[in-house]
Amino acid sequence: MIDAYTRLYGIIGNPVRHSLSPAIHNGVFERMGVNAAYVAFEVSNLADAMAGVRALGVQGLSVTVPFKEEVIPFLDALEPTAEKIGAVNTIASEAGRLVGYNTDWFGAIEALQEKAELEGKMVLLLGAGGAARAIAFGLRQKGSRVAIWNRSPEKAKVLSEEMGCLHIPQLSAIDIPPDIIINATSAGMWPHTSQSPLPQSYLNSKMLVMDIVYTPLNTRLIREAEGQGCSVIDGLEMLAHQAVRQFEIWTGMKPSATQIKEDLRRALESRNRPIHTQWEGRFSRGDS
Ligand code: ATR
Repeated sequence: MIDAYTRLYGIIGNPVRHSLSPAIHNGVFERMGVNAAYVAFEVSNLADAMAGVRALGVQGLSVTVPFKEEVIPFLDALEPTAEKIGAVNTIASEAGRLVGYNTDWFGAIEALQEKAELEGKMVLLLGAGGAARAIAFGLRQKGSRVAIWNRSPEKAKVLSEEMGCLHIPQLSAIDIPPDIIINATSAGMWPHTSQSPLPQSYLNSKMLVMDIVYTPLNTRLIREAEGQGCSVIDGLEMLAHQAVRQFEIWTGMKPSATQIKEDLRRALESRNRPIHTQWEGRFSRGDS
């Protein structure tokens, strides 16, 4: 029940109405008996929004597109990992100071480690945006060899140099066939569901393929990977695991990832039919 002691949490982004984070965190608050509520803030003026967060004592925020980098100057401190990645997806109010964290890398790595050992593996990472930055960082921490391809090659080159990865200007330029392929681009995300970031002929049954897009869950890449006999990880996995870590940062309590995944699948199913009309072109990936 919401009362005078209820602590407020939320997500800032634009667009943000597609977000499944309210479903995740309100579900966990209720199950774990925390007197807190989580709402979505569609922000157009970030400076005003952050002043409001401070003035009203908002306890914690998730941060999504397009604010993950832009929000950094409004914070009092950055946890070292968020600093190294250069992006924040979680803010906690700690004794009145706003501290920035990144849990995207953790979410991706947890999701991958449920299916594979990462040390020494050859990973092809598609994309060079905020999510790809976090995933590249996590993979390097785990000792994977990482090759990065991006539609705009110069961004992949910069990211590769920063994270100690290999930059591949064309997909055909990779020498060793990857053990793992990760789509951290928006290709395949609604409404561009007929897109895949790479040709099906690139895939073989020994590969593990992860897509961070979750609208739809069953992206063309995931369908084609399954068709080739690959193991697959859909976009819900990273979303659930990054939220587990986020909740832990805010409350010190660790929720069940399995339960969050069940909640998410239910939330997605209930939106399933109206999804394309209701969301009016708003789409999402496993990082928010
Ligand atoms: P986020 O911070 O969530 O990762 P982003 O920084 O906007 O979002 O990054 C989006 C990524 O998806 C980029 O790598 C982008 O490629 P560009 O750098 O060339 O823009 C990639 N991307 C978006 N649409 C794509 C498409 N249709 N095909 C391939 N890559 C795409």
